Amino acid sequence: MSDSDILDLLEEYASSGSLPMHMPGHKRNTATAPYLGKLGAAFDITEIEGFDNLHAPGGVLQKAMLRASRLWGSGRSFFLVNGSTCGILAAVCALAKRGDRVIAARNCHMSVYNALELCGAEPVFIVPPCDSELGIYASLRPEDVEEALLHNPGAKLLVLTSPTYEGVISDVGAICRAAHSRGVPVLVDEAHGAHLGFSDYFPGGAVKAGADIVIQSLHKTLPGLTQTAIAHLSGKLADEGEFARMLSVFETSSPSYLLMSSIDGCVGLLESEGEMLFQRWEKSLGLFGERIGPLKHLKVLSHGGEALSDHGNVFGFDRSKILISTQLASLTGVELMRLLRDEHRIELEMSSGALALAMTGLGDTPEALLRFADALLALDGNCAPEKKSRSVPPPCATPKRLCGIGDALRSEKTVLPVKDASGKISAEYVWAYPPGVPLLIPGEEIGEDLADAMQSIEESGVRLKSTSGNLPSGLCVIN
Ligand SMILES: Cc1ncc(COP(=O)(O)O)c(C=O)c1O
Repeated sequence: MSDSDILDLLEEYASSGSLPMHMPGHKRNTATAPYLGKLGAAFDITEIEGFDNLHAPGGVLQKAMLRASRLWGSGRSFFLVNGSTCGILAAVCALAKRGDRVIAARNCHMSVYNALELCGAEPVFIVPPCDSELGIYASLRPEDVEEALLHNPGAKLLVLTSPTYEGVISDVGAICRAAHSRGVPVLVDEAHGAHLGFSDYFPGGAVKAGADIVIQSLHKTLPGLTQTAIAHLSGKLADEGEFARMLSVFETSSPSYLLMSSIDGCVGLLESEGEMLFQRWEKSLGLFGERIGPLKHLKVLSHGGEALSDHGNVFGFDRSKILISTQLASLTGVELMRLLRDEHRIELEMSSGALALAMTGLGDTPEALLRFADALLALDGNCAPEKKSRSVPPPCATPKRLCGIGDALRSEKTVLPVKDASGKISAEYVWAYPPGVPLLIPGEEIGEDLADAMQSIEESGVRLKSTSGNLPSGLCVIN
């Protein structure tokens, strides 16, 4: 017996000798398709007799989701097999309808923008301050949220990301109190924070902070297969029934039991061995922090000697992230990422400008993080100090919004050379992936400084993408 009812049921079914005259077409025949054997296809089924229905659960999935809800302390939890993306689409579309005001942090992930376009809501953006040293968005300020709520009575939803891709946490508790005092529900994109709140080393967590809907990608920091995520609903402001209906719009009608079993396995693991595994993770990061003490040029936020107190706009930082600044070293973040790959066979998550980002997870061991620390020390030893601080491209100031996202996308458009586009209205998105936060959105005025900002971002080694695919030469604008 495993600690997952779903896996037990799958094992029982796989060994039952039942002839599968149903989807999926590989029929779990690993002799014909040996690669599927390696991928665990013996358990790859969707909803058949004896199992449960993800969109109307009443059996093994319902039990598994109840267990998850108890673990996180939510009102109700939903397993997601199309990533946090489908949870975000469903949450925004459940709470906001055509013409409704939605207050959103401007550093939200593309999925939030896509959801706003689909539901036809009127977004009001709040721009979080920038951390000028790192050149990344800092925490969303509760006072800015208060002000936006004051100026937008009747707003139907507030959306923010915490932690961000880089690990910046906002004061979700204070933000929820401000929104709830006006009856506005809060959706937190916690795709990067499924591990928060399980140990004092990773404090926080939006469910405990009072958020109405929290969306988490298990696959980012916890041991869930890629695409696995979870949505937690609490309180009375978020309509559960409408959320479930929207999930059936945005999520597959053939959910993979492999994926769902891995979510349930993850919940079981957290229940039975979570304390020990979180201690190992904390110990690994603690050893990493001690080992990198002698770094001279590279700086690692919240690990080693780098204190968060030097970053006044940052409310909290998720220590599962290892955010390395190369500002005082003779190499860029992109070069650091390449050197780690070429010389040490270590693959980072992302690099840009003077930053490089490593993500750790519950599966990490002390040996892995010490190996990473040693590689950083070796590269740091070969660095020369940079005479002047390397300037980091800060997130651009938010351009003026002149029409709705959907209207701009559906309008008559032309592609212009980037240098000729200033003063025009954008008919497309411009973003870098990762982190998937748009620099420009459809309907926004293209400012004079945008071309320069885009150029300096590209020069820092980050490839910008646009909806039409015409970058770096052209931008799609409204005629
Ligand atoms: C902040 C944020 N939200 C949402 C998502 C989407 O998550 P998923 O890949 O699980 O759909 C991502 C993906 O990277 C993300 O960084």
